[in-house]
Amino acid sequence: MILFKRAGDLTGWLEKQRASGKSIGFAPTMGALHAGHISLITISKKKTDVSVCSIFVNPTQFNDPKDFQKYPATLDKDIALLERAGVDILFLPEVAELYPGGTTGLETYDLGRLETLLEGKYRPGHFQGVCQVMRRLLDIVRPDHLFMGQKDYQQCMVVQRLLTLRGMDTQLHRCPIVREADGLAMSSRNLRLTPEQRTKATAIYQALGMLATNALATNALASDALTSDALIRRAEEMLKQADFQVDYIAIADAETLEPEMDKAGSVSGGIALIAAFQGEVRLIDNMIL
Ligand code: PAJ
Repeated sequence: MILFKRAGDLTGWLEKQRASGKSIGFAPTMGALHAGHISLITISKKKTDVSVCSIFVNPTQFNDPKDFQKYPATLDKDIALLERAGVDILFLPEVAELYPGGTTGLETYDLGRLETLLEGKYRPGHFQGVCQVMRRLLDIVRPDHLFMGQKDYQQCMVVQRLLTLRGMDTQLHRCPIVREADGLAMSSRNLRLTPEQRTKATAIYQALGMLATNALATNALASDALTSDALIRRAEEMLKQADFQVDYIAIADAETLEPEMDKAGSVSGGIALIAAFQGEVRLIDNMIL
């Protein structure tokens, strides 16, 4: 594995690879790596000749300063995991390398409804920050293939929009969610949960499972079908029992993320999404119906 800290050095090195006909895969991360991140590298290695991973805790995407300060950092362990996964390149820039002019007054992007729905609504400015850093990373790496997780479903949609806005032909691959044995979606933020919170956190997966099972029944026009509203209330109850504070529970169109409210039939092509706080830690997860 080669470690690059300077954008120019990395771009130059990758340019040579490209010139010799090699395809480039890229998995951007914020570190505190787990098996979900590593799965992106594994998929990248299967599909491309050169796999690049970046670790950069991007200050511009944290709408909550406490979340930024407490974001876990486990660099030595991350490097060992990446070596073992066989990644070719680790890009580890400082803030000034990606934002030489500072982090204020940066460009903004027209994200349409994505910016006001779900994560967009509850984390104002978050997706602008994601676009600001992704634009820089994409310009530096210029990957043929970009590997991102379904765990952050709306983020995948936002980055696809960024690629389209920038006229880039990078292919975005939305990779499956990797879960713990009890169903909890792997997340760097799980490290911040106390053992008791960690046990309760699995309620998100259970609620999603309940939504998925019942949405399918609804879809099959079952006589005891429940409305989306009733399902969401039931999921809310499950989360409250586990001491979650809910930001949102949604059954939405998987293409647009607009809410799916109707009973019977309209739920096909849908997705259930949840964001909720366990103590101070905000967790998100989703399940395609
Ligand atoms: P981070 O939260 O570190 O996630 C990096 C990538 O790993 C994202 O594409 C995310 O969806 C994926 N990922 C996280 N948990 C996963 C899981 N359990 N299974 C599969 N994939 C998972 O997302 C970010 O960083 C940042 O916003 C970033 C895109 C790097 C921009 O700063």
